[in-house]
Amino acid sequence: MARVAIVGAGYVGLTYGLAHAYMGDDVVVVDKDRGKVDQLRQGICPVSEKGLPELLERGLRGELEGSIFFSTDTRLRSRDAEVIVLAVWTPELPSGLSDMSQVYAAAKEIAEGMIDGREYLILDKCTVHVGTARALDAFVADALKADGKSPEFHVVANPCFTDAGNALQDVLYPMRYFVGVGPGQKGLVAAELSRAFHSRVLGQTFDEPIEGLKPKGYVVPPVQETTWENCEVMKQVANTFQAMRISFAQEVAEYCEVMGADVETVMDAAGLDPRIGQLFNRPGVGWGGPCLPKDTHAFLTEGEQLFLDMDITYAIRKVNDRQRERAILKLVKHMGCLNGRTIAVLGLAFKAGVADARFSPAVDVVRKLVELGAWVQAYDPMAVTSAADVLQLPRITYFDREVGGIQGALRGAEAVMVLTDWPEFTGIDWKELNRLRHDSDRKPVVVDGRNILNPTNVKEAGLKYIGWGRGEVSP
Ligand SMILES: NC(=O)c1ccc[n+]([C@@H]2O[C@H](COP(=O)([O-])OP(=O)(O)OC[C@H]3O[C@@H](n4cnc5c(N)ncnc54)[C@H](O)[C@@H]3O)[C@@H](O)[C@H]2O)c1
Repeated sequence: MARVAIVGAGYVGLTYGLAHAYMGDDVVVVDKDRGKVDQLRQGICPVSEKGLPELLERGLRGELEGSIFFSTDTRLRSRDAEVIVLAVWTPELPSGLSDMSQVYAAAKEIAEGMIDGREYLILDKCTVHVGTARALDAFVADALKADGKSPEFHVVANPCFTDAGNALQDVLYPMRYFVGVGPGQKGLVAAELSRAFHSRVLGQTFDEPIEGLKPKGYVVPPVQETTWENCEVMKQVANTFQAMRISFAQEVAEYCEVMGADVETVMDAAGLDPRIGQLFNRPGVGWGGPCLPKDTHAFLTEGEQLFLDMDITYAIRKVNDRQRERAILKLVKHMGCLNGRTIAVLGLAFKAGVADARFSPAVDVVRKLVELGAWVQAYDPMAVTSAADVLQLPRITYFDREVGGIQGALRGAEAVMVLTDWPEFTGIDWKELNRLRHDSDRKPVVVDGRNILNPTNVKEAGLKYIGWGRGEVSP
């Protein structure tokens, strides 16, 4: 059992906090946002992550092996912790770099809380610029010196590789286990791994907190101790590589549209080769969300600052960005001018399974539709609040499962754009649900921005189907 303080009660911090408490650690999760802390104390989970609301409820009832509570005081809570986890937000700056100010502000408060005679392990889980762990090490040492204190501390680069929507699964059943240590810290990681949380994750000596969370055939990865810098670059590369696969599929889709080939067949066949694989090989309106856009931008900008060309990373972002424009163009080519037309949008979240519409391709497409004078009827099962918050625009009517449903969004629309891969869209009975307006001289169109619909079903309902590279030659 270890005493753990987590700084930042967001997607990452809350997930790790609850996971540590589940495994027997005594955890305090600190957030400077008093409203969030009050919510958490009342059992209201501020992030939509599978399994977290249940664990939070059990944690507050004292039913986890360890304990968890919430506080707003980083200084006080760092004092008694053995492990301090940094999980604050690192937003994108206009320059393309990420803003590290919250990381240093939190580190300052942590240093202020530390006391002599103790040993602290500071795990940096944030996605940061390369060199941040090294700089944090010096920053904390300077802050302690200025305060006349000399507790022992170790900064460890320990980037978070969680996938939004599956964060708890990724923490309890990780795919990689990398820890970045500084000079003279060798062996330290081994000591940390003997603590409750890591030894239990690595030994898999715990029951699934919710049924079905453990991936089938899960194998624990080897632990790899490496340098601070290796760990920081590894995180940038993991995100950029994932983005690259999707952007490549998008480029292949554009090619297929000209050649009259079907991108799904082509990519499936390519993926049969285990050296290529089937993951992230689907084209469409693109990747988005809070992490990939900012992290690929930071990787690109950090390289360019050092006079590197970063040609591939530049292209990865460019190909993805133009898919939003292509979505609008596909619609306009079929419908003509959008001014005054009513468009149904299915999906606002940046991907299925999350309530988050920040940096979602769907949000950018909706913004452009409104700019072009269209009226938008938007449906999403989870992300309506987030989208309305980001968009703050007139001419949009929102629908969710409680209000209007998919039918509400389709009623009276002249076109549909599917912009998130929610599985419920694949089951739409287009004949049954065909409430689209048929009074123009062209068929109502369904633009499938995720290639998730069955084109035949859509066509048989008397609608025009337009996907990404699905075998029809585009003009
Ligand atoms: N969201 C993801 O899926 C994900 C995945 C991998 C990595 N990351 C990275 O992890 C980091 C955290 O991301 P997140 O999504 O959890 O962020 P988030 O915005 O959801 O949460 C961060 C929290 O930190 C709090 N905070 C900021 N400064 C603080 C301080 N000084 N003291 C106490 N609380 C403070 C904020 O109030 C906020 O609640 C980022 O660097 C992000 O890039 C995120």
